Amino acid sequence: MNVLGIETSCDETAAAAVSGGRAARAPRLLSSVVSSQVALHRPFGGVVPEVASRSHIRFITGVIEKALADAKLSSAQVSAVAATAGPGLPGSLLVGLTAGKALAYLLRKPFIAVNHTEAHILAAFLEDPGLRPPLLALVASGGHTELIVMRRQGEFHTIGRTRDDAAGEAYDKVAKLLGLGYPGGPAIEKVARRARGSVRFPVARMKDGSLDFSFSGLKTAVANALPHSSDRAALAAGFQQAVLKALSARAREALAATRAKTLVLAGGVAANSALREAFTRLARDERIRLVVPKMSLCTDNAAMVACAGWFRLRAGGRSALSSPSHPGWNAGERLPAGAGGLK
Ligand code: KG4
Ligand code: ZN
Repeated sequence: MNVLGIETSCDETAAAAVSGGRAARAPRLLSSVVSSQVALHRPFGGVVPEVASRSHIRFITGVIEKALADAKLSSAQVSAVAATAGPGLPGSLLVGLTAGKALAYLLRKPFIAVNHTEAHILAAFLEDPGLRPPLLALVASGGHTELIVMRRQGEFHTIGRTRDDAAGEAYDKVAKLLGLGYPGGPAIEKVARRARGSVRFPVARMKDGSLDFSFSGLKTAVANALPHSSDRAALAAGFQQAVLKALSARAREALAATRAKTLVLAGGVAANSALREAFTRLARDERIRLVVPKMSLCTDNAAMVACAGWFRLRAGGRSALSSPSHPGWNAGERLPAGAGGLK
C-alpha cells in the first residue's frame, strides 16, 4: 500500500509518500516535500490567511509531483490519496483537500480525509515503528495545545486543552512583543539559550484541577515586565521556563491519571530542544517510554498525513469525494454522517 499525503492546513505546502504491506506495524517514509511560506509572512509578523491560500495554489502541483518523483512512484502505483481536512485555516485547507480529491478521482483510488492533530501524533509511528497504543500524547503547536489519549490505533480522546492561546501561539506573540521576529518559537529558543539570567513568571494552574492549559496570562505578564527590564534574553528565558513548566506539570498529571506507560511529544513546539530535554528527564523520573519525532516530523509536514492515511486505509476507511473541510475538527471527533465523515 503506497499512500500519498497532502498538507495545506496553515503555511506549509507539503506532500509525502509512505509505503508498507498490510502486515507492517507502521509504514515506511519514501519522500517528504515541504515548501515553507515563512519568508512570505515574515513582513506581516504572522500568517496572513489570504496570502497562505494563494501560495498553496501556486505550489501544490509542483510539491505533489516532487513527492512522487522523490519516492520513485508513478501515479498508477498510488493506492490512496490522503489530505488534511482540518483543523486549520479554511481557505488553506480547501487547496490541499481539493487537490487530493481531484487526484483520487482521476486515479480512481480511495480518498482519505485526515485530522491534522491526529496526524501530528501518528508521526511518532514513522519515528518508532515499534510504537504501540495505548499511549498519551502532548500535541503543542501554533494552533493547539492538547493532551490526547490514544487507546487503540485510530481511537483518540482529548483529556486536556488550552483555554486560550496555544503554546506555539504564545511563543509567537511574546517574540513579537520582544521584537524577536517571526516565527517566535525558534527565535525565543535561540535568545533564551544565551541568557545569563531569567525573569520569573508564574505558571497558570486551573482552579478546578483539570488538565487544561492557559498561556494568555503569561503573555500579559511578559508585556507588563517589559517596561521594567531591558534584558530581553532574561525575559525570553523566563517565558520559556514557564511554558516548559506548565507543559511538563500537566503531562505528569495526565500520566498519573491515565497510567500511560508511553508518552508522545508532537507538534511544532516539540521542535524545541529545551522542551525535549525537559521531557527526557520527565520520562526518566516517571519510568515511561518517550517518543519524540525528529524535528522535520514535528513541524507541519505531509509525512504524518500520509502515515495517518495509511493506517486508515489499512482499517478499510475512506472518505467521500463530497466531504467538506472541517476548520474546527477536534482530534477523535467523529464527523456527522452526511458531512463526508470517515467510514
Ligand atoms: O505544528 P506547527 O508547525 O504548525 C501548526 O500546526 O500550528 O507549529 C508551529 C508552531 C509555531 O507557533 C512556532 O513558533 C512553534 O510551533 N515552534 C516552536 C519551535 N519551532 C516551532 N516553538 C518553540 N520552540 C521551537 N524551537
Ligand atoms: Zn501542525
